[in-house]
Amino acid sequence: MCGIRGYIGDEDAPPLLYNGLKRMEYRGYDSAGIATISDAKMLVKKDTGKVTEINNKLDFLSMRGNIGIAHTRWATHGGVTRENAHPHASCGLEVAVIHNGIIENYRSLMENLMAEGHHFNSQTDSEIIAHLLEKHYKAYEDEKQAVLKTASDLKGSFAFLAIFTANPNMIIGARKDAPLVIGVGKQGNFLASDILAFIDYTDKVLFLDNREIAIVKGRDMQVYTFEGKPVEKEVTQVAWEAKDTSKEAFAHYTTKEIHEQPQTLKAALYQDPNKVQEFCSAIERAKHIHITACGTSYHVGLILRNLLARLAKIRSDATLSSEFSHDAELIERDCLVIAISQSGETADLLFAVSEAKKRGGEVLSILNAVGASLDRESKLSLYINCGPEIGVAATKSFTGQLILVYLLIFTLLNDTRRLADLRDIWKAVEEVLKMEDKVVEVAKKYKECNDFYFVGRSLHLPIALEGALKLKELAYNHAEGMAGGELKHGTLALIEEGTPVVVLNPEDETYQEMLSNASEMKARGAKIIGVSNRPHEIYDDFIQIPTVDELLYPLVEVVPLQMLAYHTAVLRQRDPDYPRNLAKSVTVK
Ligand code: AGP
Ligand code: GLU
Repeated sequence: MCGIRGYIGDEDAPPLLYNGLKRMEYRGYDSAGIATISDAKMLVKKDTGKVTEINNKLDFLSMRGNIGIAHTRWATHGGVTRENAHPHASCGLEVAVIHNGIIENYRSLMENLMAEGHHFNSQTDSEIIAHLLEKHYKAYEDEKQAVLKTASDLKGSFAFLAIFTANPNMIIGARKDAPLVIGVGKQGNFLASDILAFIDYTDKVLFLDNREIAIVKGRDMQVYTFEGKPVEKEVTQVAWEAKDTSKEAFAHYTTKEIHEQPQTLKAALYQDPNKVQEFCSAIERAKHIHITACGTSYHVGLILRNLLARLAKIRSDATLSSEFSHDAELIERDCLVIAISQSGETADLLFAVSEAKKRGGEVLSILNAVGASLDRESKLSLYINCGPEIGVAATKSFTGQLILVYLLIFTLLNDTRRLADLRDIWKAVEEVLKMEDKVVEVAKKYKECNDFYFVGRSLHLPIALEGALKLKELAYNHAEGMAGGELKHGTLALIEEGTPVVVLNPEDETYQEMLSNASEMKARGAKIIGVSNRPHEIYDDFIQIPTVDELLYPLVEVVPLQMLAYHTAVLRQRDPDYPRNLAKSVTVK
């Protein structure tokens, strides 16, 4: 979702901030802006649209100053207008603020401030922060007290950064239920929503925890809890590198990330065996297991549930994080919660986890972003090590999470044969990537179809859901994923002449039943797109995948579905990296 970034140091801030804005574009946004202080004057430039378009119009690079803040906005309160874009300044331009999150009590705060003579220029919930900081800074004449008082006035979720005209050597930041990290550079310090915003300049990171504020004065950095207690922070060196964020020769990040999967699958298996064992022991010990995640990560959760039940005979449930709190009454004190996420910053997931912890649950996670909020909330995390994922659609992170699920299950079962097969699965993914021309042919044939169905049984059902989600989010074709056995309970009524149906049907125990489902649909006019290791005359189009261990097909069969969504999007002239209305990290509930 929105991205925030600040810089203070020896260098000219505007180019660093502008690059940071471009780095954060992948998070999804509708407006952008920068504020700097130069010659004791605050300058704010902002507008709606894409970062480069705004720069063409306003010339961010002509701004001056060694300090500044920059924002990409994903509107929650107030329309997408120039006035509502961040940064927001206080009445006399004494303070400029950028904010990520939602301030729930902004109306009552605004009424009070208006009664005290403050004027508001936007319809956002965020502007209130600038006015509060101005008021408290004047009253306390102390930045720490001003920030702590402001944070205590606010209800809701926020990560904000602020700069003060009266003190052009200082950036302050605060976080509550929204991400904020500090990058410690040789020439200055960065504050941002995520590491990618400054990874080109430094890989040394200091992670703020929830309910903490930071006061950065030049090179000096102080962190305090919301209660005002000083906190000692350790600097962590992160493994991500600037080169990981380049598109290389690929047209889009999404296709680059799809093609990286043979490597990222190998990388995901580099795990500390003691941590894997510890994760497995927690599963074995647990009396109750709840799996929770959102979107694509949830589909991994469904496979985890299936494998735990089927192979390890362990009962668990998989709940969408946004629904988790509705079932919270059923969370047992001694339960284990397995949270799955790419970003580790998804608000719904973090709320689910905090709900479970409040009730005494223990949280283990599978995630990509080391140091993210979920990581800090978890007793133990396994990292998928797939590097930054920039495309909004999760691709390599999906297979990365999934291979860790298999690693856990086979370790739990001590299944050494399958563990060996798992180490080689990247070869099958490499093979399937060679089917891209065939996938493009299928995409060309069906790209204009309004409705797609993806059908599978058992382990293939989550992949059917994932194939449909990818096509919806990238190409905007309506798509539904469903269980083969459910067709006759309703959806068959929608099958008509020419309706494309992707049938996930590698040879396993679901094979014959899926052929029968395919035949029922074909009899009603459907065009059957078969994804299998074995050709069959029933398929109008056939995407062949290699033969692998029958449990491992999900890791392989998802790849042509990712490619299908990507190519359909490109053929329909959609931008697959930045699908409309979506954000990479969904940091609001
Ligand atoms: C995936 O393609 C989506 N963009 C989305 O569903 C995503 O998987 C979901 O928002 C969860 O994100 P997370 O894995 O970072 O928690
Ligand atoms: N709620 C704020 C707004 O609508 C911030 C949104 C965001 O996180 O980008 O401006």
